Amino acid sequence: MLVLGVETSCDDTAAAVLLDGRTILANIVSSQDQIHGPYGGVVPELASRQHIKNIVPIVDGALDKANVSVQDIDGIAVTRGPGLVGSLLVGLSLAKGMAFRWTIPFVGVNHLEAHLLAIQLEQDVPFPYIALLASGGHTLLYCVKNFGNYVFLGGTRDDAAGEAFDKVAKMMGLGYPGGRVIDNLAKSGDRRAIRFPRARLKKGSFDFSFSGIKTAVWHYLKSTGEEAWKNKVPDVAASFQEAVVDMLVQPTIRVAEANDVRRIVLAGGVAANSRLREKMKEEAEAKKIQVYVPAPKFCTDNGAMIALTGYHRLIRGQRDDFRLNADADLTL
Ligand code: KG4
Ligand code: ZN
Repeated sequence: MLVLGVETSCDDTAAAVLLDGRTILANIVSSQDQIHGPYGGVVPELASRQHIKNIVPIVDGALDKANVSVQDIDGIAVTRGPGLVGSLLVGLSLAKGMAFRWTIPFVGVNHLEAHLLAIQLEQDVPFPYIALLASGGHTLLYCVKNFGNYVFLGGTRDDAAGEAFDKVAKMMGLGYPGGRVIDNLAKSGDRRAIRFPRARLKKGSFDFSFSGIKTAVWHYLKSTGEEAWKNKVPDVAASFQEAVVDMLVQPTIRVAEANDVRRIVLAGGVAANSRLREKMKEEAEAKKIQVYVPAPKFCTDNGAMIALTGYHRLIRGQRDDFRLNADADLTL
C-alpha cells in the first residue's frame, strides 16, 4: 500500500511517500526558518502564505522522488491538528482536493500521535513504551500501548521544552529556532558553569515546568550584564541546556519505573538535542531501561511520520470524509 503523507501544522511544509508502512520512498521537508528567523518565532500569517507557495511543489517533488504518479497512491494521510489553523488548512485542503479528484481514501492524522510513532519508521520498537514528546508546542509523557492506544501520563504545566530553548535563544540574540543553535554552542561550553534551578513538582507527579528556568536565565543575563555574559555564551547555553535536560530526563525515568515499562522513546523536535539523547541513555540504561531515539530528521516535523500514522488507520479500515476540518487544539 502506497500512502502519501502531508504535514503543514506549523512552519514546515512536508510530504512523504511510504510503501507498506515501512519503506520511505520520499520524505521532503521545506523549512521556513529563514522567513520566521527575524521575528524570533513563527508568524502564523506568513507561515500559511508560505505553505500555499510550497505545498504543490513539495507534494509533486515527493511523488517524483518516489517515482510514482498520483494514480498509484492508495491512501492520503494529512495532519488535521493540533497546530496553526491557517497552516493546517493548506495541507488539509490540498489532501481533500487530491482525494476527491482521484478518488483516493484519505484520513486526518493527529500530529502528536505521529510524533509518538515516528520511531517505528526506523525500527520495530515493541509495545508498550514510554514516549517523551518534547517539541516547540508540547512536552508530554505517554504510554504507547499499541498503534492507536495511548495513555496520558504527564505534561508541562506552562511552557513547552522547545519554547524554553527558543525563548532563551531569543533573549541571547542567537536566532530562531533556538534549540539547534543552543545545542551546538553548548558543545564547547561548561555545563557546570552556572547552576540554574530545576523546577520541583509535587512528589508522585510526572509533570514538567519550564517557565522558571526561562526566568532564571533572564535574571542571570540581567544581573551579569551583556559585556560579561557575551564572553561566556557557550557556558550559559550548556548550563541552561543541562537544566532543561535534567528536567526532561528525571520524570521520564520515574514514570517508566512507576509503570514498570522498560522502554523509553524520544520524540519531537527537542529529541534531536544531543545532550538529551546522551543523558537519557546514560541514566535509563543504568536502570536497565532501553532508550530508542529517532534520527533527527524524524524527530522534527516530517511527512513520513504522518504517512505511517495514516497507514495504520487505513489498514484498520478507517476513513475520513470531506467534512473533516482542521482542529488547532486537537488532543490525543
Ligand atoms: O517537533 P518540531 O519540529 O515542531 C513542533 O511540532 O513544535 O519541534 C520544534 C522545536 C523547536 O522549539 C526547536 O527549537 C526544537 O524543537 N529543537 C531543538 C533541537 N532541534 C530542534 N531543541 C533542542 N535541541 C535541538 N537540537
Ligand atoms: Zn511537531
